[in-house]
Amino acid sequence: MCGIVGYAGPRRAVPVLLEGLKRLEYRGYDSAGIAIGDEGRLAVVKRVGKIAVLRNAVPKELPGSWGIGHTRWATHGGVTEANAHPHLDSSGKVAVVHNGIIENYRALRNMLEREGVCFASETDSEVIPHLVARYYEGDLEQAVKAALSHLEGTYGIAVVHADEPGRIIGARNGSPLVVGVGSGEMFLASDVTAMIAHTKQVVYLSDGEVVAIDPSGFRTTDRDDRPVAKKVDEVAWELGSIEKGDFACYMEKEIFEQPESVARALGGRLESAEATAKLGGLNLDRRQLRQVGRVRVIAAGTSWHAGLVGAQLLESMARIPASAELASELRYRNPVVEKDSLWFAVSQSGETADTLYALREIQRKGGTVLGICNVVGSTIARESDGGIYVHSGPEIAVASTKAFTSQLAAFYLFTLLMARMRDLSHAEGAHFSAALAGVPGKIAETLRCRDLVQALAKKYARSENFLFLGRGLMYPIALEGALKLKEISYAHAEGCAAGEIKHGPIALVAPEVPSIFLVPDDELREKTISNMREIKARGGPVIAVGVEGDAEVAAIADDFVPTPRMDPRFYPFTMVVPLQLFAYFVALELGRDIDQPRNLAKSVTVE
Ligand code: AGP
Repeated sequence: MCGIVGYAGPRRAVPVLLEGLKRLEYRGYDSAGIAIGDEGRLAVVKRVGKIAVLRNAVPKELPGSWGIGHTRWATHGGVTEANAHPHLDSSGKVAVVHNGIIENYRALRNMLEREGVCFASETDSEVIPHLVARYYEGDLEQAVKAALSHLEGTYGIAVVHADEPGRIIGARNGSPLVVGVGSGEMFLASDVTAMIAHTKQVVYLSDGEVVAIDPSGFRTTDRDDRPVAKKVDEVAWELGSIEKGDFACYMEKEIFEQPESVARALGGRLESAEATAKLGGLNLDRRQLRQVGRVRVIAAGTSWHAGLVGAQLLESMARIPASAELASELRYRNPVVEKDSLWFAVSQSGETADTLYALREIQRKGGTVLGICNVVGSTIARESDGGIYVHSGPEIAVASTKAFTSQLAAFYLFTLLMARMRDLSHAEGAHFSAALAGVPGKIAETLRCRDLVQALAKKYARSENFLFLGRGLMYPIALEGALKLKEISYAHAEGCAAGEIKHGPIALVAPEVPSIFLVPDDELREKTISNMREIKARGGPVIAVGVEGDAEVAAIADDFVPTPRMDPRFYPFTMVVPLQLFAYFVALELGRDIDQPRNLAKSVTVE
């Protein structure tokens, strides 16, 4: 949520900051602004709307070779120009961009107002420049540190002062900040995507750290001014992976990348000789893994759906009791943290506040938490006790697709590992492992349904309500299909366990309400077919996502999307694909902003 970028170097800062903001736009896109330093003054331009609106408003030749920028997802205060960042102190010399929430801003604002400060916005963030100005005596870094001592809450900030050319001070507490090390130039951003076009050398700040950058380099300290040594990391992916290429939008690109992204998640992790999986980052030895008595998954949204699949699989195959829970719920209900439980925090971004705070709560109570994350160096990845990177590559579209199937891959690998330490035979392990290795190919085959799904999306796009139904492993997939559709098309969609419809949701069935059924050829197929018939008997149109050659299901349904036949345990990987495409094409048909749907943002760093 919200994006920060900063630049100090020999070039004109405006194009660098605007390009960085454009790449960060997926994190929040209500309003945006920049502050550029030049000859003892700061030029500030802010606009409501997307980066394109800001770009048009910035004077073409605006000079200045250092500055900061921000793209906002509103929390405190409406979407207005005044509430957009950067925020200034009363003299206009201090500018601050902020991600996160200052929880005690009311008290700070009252204090500052009593001292005569006039506020220009309704935001919590604006207290920061006024506090910095309050302490400024010719050293911005010291003034920022003094200001930080007042702040409660979360922040990633970048601060400039008109009288300190080329200097940017950054600080982090619960909201990511990364330094980019260039040659004679330096960058600061909330996310490496903002700077990858310029440098792959990065330094991830940790909570409590402050960085001072200027074109010659950087210096990191803690808030008490003690030096902190930092390692420079190299970003492993290329600029091309954050560009759309020939695709109309990132979501479409990411859906079609899934054969490769799942192959990457599996890469080098299947041990065919032993018919098991190798997961180096768990930081648990065999004895510790064998002692696991229960697996508990915490996550949000799509990552939670991956956790629901993972929990079912672990329980049925490895015979370990397992469950998945919404992190936002778990954190506040004082969960029992059993000694023999192993926890997983699943998060594409690795920055989701709900998941992060739940992780900390569990660790506080003595639990071991492994992360399943995509973003390398993210907070959840760093704070967890070990984990599995899913290696999807950057996921830019707000609607998560390729990260989901890669998260599934992580759970399937972990299940194989655990099952082989328990009752699964070598032969069964080898069969499972071969089927898992074949998943990328099966996803590629499934993607051939593109045109068929596009035609269905055209047929049903005007429906205002949808039901998504499945049993067993298909229940989380139904939830995921409904989430995808509502996120980007704004249609109302409900995911239900197909067996539950008779307990209520069937009242929604009507000729104008399509039901999308997931019907694999598993042991629940007959039951699911009965549920399809119940809907048909009440005049509801049925779209079935089934298995190629299943004439019975095709005959009952009004529309049928075949997917390749496979070991039934692996259908979550393939049957989710037509649902992702359906959401995408419905949204396209309705002219929605697919990559940046209304009210949403990638990486939800507020509770
Ligand atoms: C997915 O399409 C959503 N945008 C959202 O539900 C997301 O999965 C959720 O916010 C969790 O994000 P995370 O995986 O980065 O933690």
